[in-house]
Amino acid sequence: MEQLGESFHHETAEQLQSHLSKVDSNYTLEKCAQYVEYIQEINALKQQHNAVVLAHNYQRPEIFEVADVVGDSLELARQSRNVACDTLVFCGVHFMAETAKIVNPEPTVLLPDLRAGCSLAEGITADALADRKESLLRIYPDLKVVCYVNTTAEVKAESDVCCTSSNALEIVQALESDNILFVPDENLARYVQKGTRKNIIAWEANCYVHHQITPEQIQEVREKLPEVKVLVHPECREDVIALADAALSTSAMMRYAKESPAKEFLIVTECGLSDRLLLEVPEKKFYKSCKLCSYMKMITLEGVLNSLRKLRYEITLPEETRTRALSAINRMLDLNA
Ligand code: 13P
Ligand code: SF4
Repeated sequence: MEQLGESFHHETAEQLQSHLSKVDSNYTLEKCAQYVEYIQEINALKQQHNAVVLAHNYQRPEIFEVADVVGDSLELARQSRNVACDTLVFCGVHFMAETAKIVNPEPTVLLPDLRAGCSLAEGITADALADRKESLLRIYPDLKVVCYVNTTAEVKAESDVCCTSSNALEIVQALESDNILFVPDENLARYVQKGTRKNIIAWEANCYVHHQITPEQIQEVREKLPEVKVLVHPECREDVIALADAALSTSAMMRYAKESPAKEFLIVTECGLSDRLLLEVPEKKFYKSCKLCSYMKMITLEGVLNSLRKLRYEITLPEETRTRALSAINRMLDLNA
């Protein structure tokens, strides 16, 4: 997790353009001048509302200019729990903002755009999970439900324990049960199955961003760049993960790329992560898979500004759902301390 210091925040349009043009030549001086105005007003509103901005690694690079913390799902969940503020603006997708509300109900949690959903989270409902759990419990009385954090609060409330891409295998191994219903990501479930002797029963849903990446695309790059290190997200297909040097969460990919002596990397996940690497590790080469998560990209600087101006869109949850979902998240945090 990155606590962002002064070096991430640029004050003039020229400074901002020279920074952002490392990832994209479409950041014109005019656009950057507009961003600088937005950033100044956002910073003033943050003070006025005692607000903190948390941002996921996939966010647009200009969002990092106003973020207090940037990280992966687990880091942001932990940070949400600890943060002391009156308003928490979540630059990420809906389930992440909801997770923040579950672990820290006191501040007003805002998501700048309610269209920022997630194809995985939409792949399962609490009712469907309850039905499947009931029928599986007849066959496996010790069954436990492990839900990926990319789920609604209602689905978390139906689950025994939550997990993220950085701790899925550890959570499954730490449970006493040998039979696990793992929801909703079929690819992550298969990845976990490879590392455990337990019986992993997978739900059938996937992330549209990662699931579209094929082994042929990886092979093509490997043939051209024999020295390249291939880092993939475990939401990728099994045959893609099989070709990787490492399968890691988004923040673990950041650390690996920074710490490895290798000089060139293929980053197989949403493009926002390779953009972060291009900005922060200019001495190394990053090739990207060019897959955009349209949900993550719904969040814009203008959206963050309007969110703070109008204190919208507030994330609220029925208290009963929140406390049941909290026990699945707390169980994860306790097992994976
Ligand atoms: P991380 O927890 O690895 O950041 O992943 C979140 C996500 O949505 C990946 O698609
Ligand atoms: Fe959901 Fe996939 Fe987007 Fe991550 S990249 S938020 S899993 S749709």
